[in-house]
Amino acid sequence: MSIVAFYSKDSSLELKNYWENRLKIYYPSVKLVSLFSDHATNANTALLWKAPLQRVKSLNNLKALISLGQGVDHILKDNIIDENIPVIRIVDPFMAKAMSHWVILSVLNFIRDTFGYYDQQRTKTYKSRKEINFTNIKVAIYGIGAIGSVVAKDLKHLGFKVEGWSRTKRDILGINCYNGKSKFKFLLNTCDIHVCLLPLTPQTTNIFNNTTFKMMKSGSCFINAGRGEQVVEQDLIENCKSGHLSTAVLDVYRKEPLPKNNKLWEQKNIRIWPHVAAETNPETAAKQIANAIKCIENGKLPPNTIERKLGY
Ligand code: GLV
Repeated sequence: MSIVAFYSKDSSLELKNYWENRLKIYYPSVKLVSLFSDHATNANTALLWKAPLQRVKSLNNLKALISLGQGVDHILKDNIIDENIPVIRIVDPFMAKAMSHWVILSVLNFIRDTFGYYDQQRTKTYKSRKEINFTNIKVAIYGIGAIGSVVAKDLKHLGFKVEGWSRTKRDILGINCYNGKSKFKFLLNTCDIHVCLLPLTPQTTNIFNNTTFKMMKSGSCFINAGRGEQVVEQDLIENCKSGHLSTAVLDVYRKEPLPKNNKLWEQKNIRIWPHVAAETNPETAAKQIANAIKCIENGKLPPNTIERKLGY
């Protein structure tokens, strides 16, 4: 029996059983127990999403932690977890495609002025609106790893000029890839649509702020499906209010769920999504999670173990 401590958003029994059944398809001897149950003290592995980390830390038999999502910042937060414990993330082509669809949707809504037409419908106004010529549009993707590279390629296939930026240099066929601070500024200055898919690290925290928004061309569109902490929300609101940014589309926030009194809700040219751009899909992710549990059980380092020093 391979005991795995489990914690997800609502920590419901139903969700735990659902995941257990999915994982059993690939690893029949797996047993999920709630993170707060007594059995969790016997667990070798924990499967976690936004778990109370002090409880995780107190479980002495844990040999590795698996994120129930693509991001691991919820596990590395505040350096509570010992840095020698391997942390594994999900890398799932299905989720990368889901993210790509969401970014494409956001980009197309911007260039085709979807919401302007929906407003016109309310007043039965039948007239064309100014169309942005997509051949002149340059899209910057910040973060071009497992997810961003798929998004970049898909946007390119749709006929957009796409540029990518990442911490280290990457090569993606057909995409200009950049790294380093000066190239970050270059993309801010020259692109029209800015898509943040970066992992949250100390270097990317608050990376989109008044200074960097001001470096973007007037009328730019900002899209964030990275992490909320990468954006100074008040600065974004001000740049949207002044019209310097023509629109922003957000899926992530500094505090989630987004509090009702957060001013982002009220800013007309900011579109709010509740962190659903690329949700974890148990059907497609279970196989690799089961494999990771098996590896840990056998003393091996699973694929997609993150580099603790880099934070992703
Ligand atoms: C979602 O935000 C994830 O990390 O998978």
